[in-house]
Amino acid sequence: MDETPTGTQPATSRIDTSVAHPARRYDYFLGGKDNFAADRESADRMMTALPTARVSALENRRFLRRAVEHLAGEAGIRQFLDIGSGIPTSPNTHEIAQGIAPDARVVYVDNDPIVLAHARALLTSGPEGATAYVDADLREPRRILEHPDVRGTLDLSQPVALMLVAVLHFIPDTDDPRGLIAPLIQALAPGSYLVLSHATLDFMPARAAEHIRSLTSAEGFYPRPRAGIETLLSGLDPVDPGLVPTPEWRLQREPAPRPSAADVAGYAAVARVA
Ligand SMILES: C[S@@+](CC[C@H](N)C(=O)[O-])C[C@H]1O[C@@H](n2cnc3c(N)ncnc32)[C@H](O)[C@@H]1O
Repeated sequence: MDETPTGTQPATSRIDTSVAHPARRYDYFLGGKDNFAADRESADRMMTALPTARVSALENRRFLRRAVEHLAGEAGIRQFLDIGSGIPTSPNTHEIAQGIAPDARVVYVDNDPIVLAHARALLTSGPEGATAYVDADLREPRRILEHPDVRGTLDLSQPVALMLVAVLHFIPDTDDPRGLIAPLIQALAPGSYLVLSHATLDFMPARAAEHIRSLTSAEGFYPRPRAGIETLLSGLDPVDPGLVPTPEWRLQREPAPRPSAADVAGYAAVARVA
């Protein structure tokens, strides 16, 4: 594990509790304990705009589980690169994948030092598989691809599931999210997959959406319309049922009633690399 990516500072000394961070805010939405006052205040501000944010976070985790189950099961994927992995929340990607395929190998990547501080909980691979954690930023895709823990854990000549689950909505258009993920997608062998979930305001009335957009962008959160999310998937082949509201992606085994698309405010897809 890359304990001191800056070369000098351990993870805990880089944790700034005075500023809200997406990983800790999401942890608060999920009912976790790894969050601070600034995160909770930011989360509460977001919940005045999106009162169902907790439902949305829980449904996003459910999508992640269904997608990994599908990939490790029917699709036969044995390698996962989970970028924006978040504070460990069981079942984590490797627990789901190795529950189906004990030899699955998973590399987690996040840029938040609190995730690094908790990364040990992600390094609990079974003996037949492997896990690694890399402290890196999605804005530096080449650094991720060249990282020795990525190269040492994954064989990029074989299919990999690249997981960008609830992370790209933290990248504004000005940072060119499609351009950032292009090198990652180009590095994937044929038969790989992209797992994507992304916040949207498409299911809200237009005036409410405009109000919410102004509140959430102040929190560094940028929901996108369907067309913007389709752009992120361009050149890839979404598997059935395509890009759909998150609670609707392969929902067959989920208990009813399901939350509505508006409550979850997200799209999800799993797309194949030809
Ligand atoms: C909402 S959480 C999602 C966690 C997990 N993927 C899930 O869906 O349950 C978003 C995560 O992305 C991370 N993140 C945000 N921007 C990032 C970036 N530029 N590079 C790497 N990680 C980032 C945050 O630190 C946080 O842990």
